[in-house]
Amino acid sequence: MIIYGLMKFIEQIPSRYDRMIGFLTFGGHRSARRRMLARVKPGVRVLDIGCGTGKFLLEAARHGAICTGVDASRSMLAVFREKLASEPDDIASRVTLLNHSATLLEKSFAGETFDIITASLMLGELPPLVLTAVLGQIPQILAPGGSLLIADELWPKDQWRSMLYSFIMAVTFIPNFILTRTMIRPVKGLEERLSEAGFEVMSRRDFAFGVVSLIEAVAKKTT
Ligand SMILES: C[S@@+](CC[C@H](N)C(=O)[O-])C[C@H]1O[C@@H](n2cnc3c(N)ncnc32)[C@H](O)[C@@H]1O
Repeated sequence: MIIYGLMKFIEQIPSRYDRMIGFLTFGGHRSARRRMLARVKPGVRVLDIGCGTGKFLLEAARHGAICTGVDASRSMLAVFREKLASEPDDIASRVTLLNHSATLLEKSFAGETFDIITASLMLGELPPLVLTAVLGQIPQILAPGGSLLIADELWPKDQWRSMLYSFIMAVTFIPNFILTRTMIRPVKGLEERLSEAGFEVMSRRDFAFGVVSLIEAVAKKTT
């Protein structure tokens, strides 16, 4: 499945995003989020890159985590802030939101580290060079022993599915561009990119027939 074009479209209606993303990913988004939340313990410092309307990060704060969300979209963050306004103070006060690009992570969090860094359904929105730049900054802000959790639609590795994806991309390119003005697509070669950025992939799980995959990576040990 290629969900990215439609996903970018529903981001243009942030108040409906939460409901629509569940349908669009056939429940894969929810399943991946549950697995991510299972890693969150009270007091853990979590950074969610491209946090959007806060579907994951709000739950993480309810689990007792100290949460930071970064997102480039004011309107997605506005929906998140509305949700926080109706949370009890002890939960809302555990969440810090920053409205800037993921390319500024190192600068924004100089000297700060996080135990868990997450990115859910956002890496495919980044052009390849920007994706490389973002992944390259994460090791500097990941605490020793910390985990990087990425939930996303990945470009398939096997030849036939890859050809099918290429075909669908070609057919949907023009309507996609007209609707979203972007050229986003499922993330290509994520595991290789992570390795180049200094990570070791510990596990990968596919949900909803691969509509969403969850990758857990840790920093490679230096000898
Ligand atoms: C499809 S939404 C996913 C939101 C949330 N992570 C989720 O799983 O529901 C993608 C989010 O990534 C954000 N985003 C895209 N490019 C970004 C960038 N360069 N820096 C920060 N956020 C970005 C968008 O604004 C949007 O909120």
